[in-house]
Amino acid sequence: MGKIHAAITAVGGYVPEYILTNQELESIVDTSDEWITSRTGIKERRILKGEGLGTSYMATQAINNLLQKKNIDPASIDLLICATTTPDMQFPATANLIAANCGMTNAFSYDISAACSGFLYALNTGAQFIESGRNKRVIVVGADKMSSIVDYQDRTTCIIFGDGAGAVLLEPSEEEVGVLDAILKSDGNGWVHLHQKAGGSVKPASIETVMAKEHYIYQEGQTVFKFAVKNMADVSAQIMERNGLSGDDVAWLVPHQANLRIISATADRMNLPEEKVMLNIQRYGNTTSGTIPLCLWEWESQLKKGDNLILAAFGGGFTWGATYVKWAYNS
Ligand code: UT7
Repeated sequence: MGKIHAAITAVGGYVPEYILTNQELESIVDTSDEWITSRTGIKERRILKGEGLGTSYMATQAINNLLQKKNIDPASIDLLICATTTPDMQFPATANLIAANCGMTNAFSYDISAACSGFLYALNTGAQFIESGRNKRVIVVGADKMSSIVDYQDRTTCIIFGDGAGAVLLEPSEEEVGVLDAILKSDGNGWVHLHQKAGGSVKPASIETVMAKEHYIYQEGQTVFKFAVKNMADVSAQIMERNGLSGDDVAWLVPHQANLRIISATADRMNLPEEKVMLNIQRYGNTTSGTIPLCLWEWESQLKKGDNLILAAFGGGFTWGATYVKWAYNS
């Protein structure tokens, strides 16, 4: 028997209906469509409205979309991993709630926290369960309600983030397809540049932390930008080199959608023309764990069996990485 690979065999996605445009942001903070577009590439983002709706709601929609498309019984799923930075609650894990919502009565489930690299971390973790032979059907979902931790009076962050969720199904294959290689990195010294100051065990929520706006995203944009540009490009070039891939061999770059300029720098480094780059940042902004699976969801119909994909991300932690996926099916 040949080596078992973890093939992506289905994708699903969900974005909320409400569209927050640059024009609307102009009426909330001192900014302009021109500034946002030229500095980030973002035109609009989706926002989840509705009392009692959180990350698990969007993840549930994305997974139901996947299950219905392929007519898959939720009870046949062995494991659900949710990558998120905006869990419904501190505990239990959001994945537990999603699994219950979706009727995954036989699955165990847990969350992975790695900020914008969360989906890549979760994808590679899920792939190990398939490759080892332990499990046959693993769903990995990346979902974030970033609007729940964005300060809509801070023009440096509120223009970037949006809400959304995307999911993939992993199943075993003896063909040379699926998650074939990954380079994953983290450096916790970067925490100072991008974090949420309060609400954790170091600084639990109090009236003071709320008044000081410490439950929102704190980001030193320029510093994060510099690390992101270098590390996302480096790791993408490294994984290509390690697998003997040139720009011609790569069908698609599937980048985390944080800033168009970071994505362009990565594509340049990989010698990829822009037609080979999945880009939906203009419509969804940065959905953190949702960006990469939402791209796969939107591009699914264009993907062909055997296509070489490089998935790449950089985010808080710092965390970053790249994953080499050979697409396993024609839709
Ligand atoms: O996904 C997780 C990882 N995160 C990232 O990868 C984000 C990385 N960082 C970035 O994408 C960029 O740093 C930002 C988009 C956050 C900011 O863009 P920038 O080109 O780095 O702008 P800046 O922070 O250097 O600010 C330049 C100027 C400043 O004004 P002064 O000091 O030059 O007068 C800012 O106050 O732009 C000003 N500015 C704005 N002006 C209009 C900052 N935000 C805005 C805004 N509208 N929304």
